[in-house]
Amino acid sequence: MLKKLSFLVAITALVWLNPVSAQNTPYTIIANPGENASSEIRLNWHTNLDDGDPYILFTERVDKNWKKAIRTRADQELCTVFDSIYSKKPNGENFYEDVRFMRNTIALKGLKEGTEYKYRLSSEKNAPGHSYSYKDSEVHYFRTAPKSGKWDMGIISDMHVYAPLPNRQKVAMEMVQQLEKHNKKPFDMMLHVGDMSAWGGSYSFWPTLYADTYFQ
Ligand SMILES: [Fe+2]
Repeated sequence: MLKKLSFLVAITALVWLNPVSAQNTPYTIIANPGENASSEIRLNWHTNLDDGDPYILFTERVDKNWKKAIRTRADQELCTVFDSIYSKKPNGENFYEDVRFMRNTIALKGLKEGTEYKYRLSSEKNAPGHSYSYKDSEVHYFRTAPKSGKWDMGIISDMHVYAPLPNRQKVAMEMVQQLEKHNKKPFDMMLHVGDMSAWGGSYSFWPTLYADTYFQ
């Protein structure tokens, strides 16, 4: 199984104070290996409640003008598990997170092995006067695993990122940089074993981590 793991992670930037409502782009975007990482990738991202239907446009990286791009709809569900959870702001102030968002997921299958792909996410509405899209959104990338041959992976855990102690995230990212330096190139995959967030139920800690350039 491990031989089939693939490449990860592409994320959008966002604003700290109210990550869910303060922006109009998909956020906490992540790519994970599918069951067969040579031919599948699993993507997950969040959008605001009224953003509309989630779509993805993807093609091989070498397809310059996106001529062979495939557009497909992702699954979407309302996520309320983080709503009204006790949390901390960066200044140490207590608050209850007001967080309801849409969770979008899709597994892309039938991909070519050892191939780099690019994708864009969009959100579309049919209601008159409310139509907008993310087609001009950032381009994200992932690579499927090779059928055989060597690949490398960085492993990290227990970052415990926590808003009032931003140094934890900073130090964790520096650790990833150290690992990469040692590896002399970016890893084919990063595996996060657990305890990434000090309080996993505090939603704001997550998009802050995902927005970190180095985490991306
Ligand atoms: Fe821990």
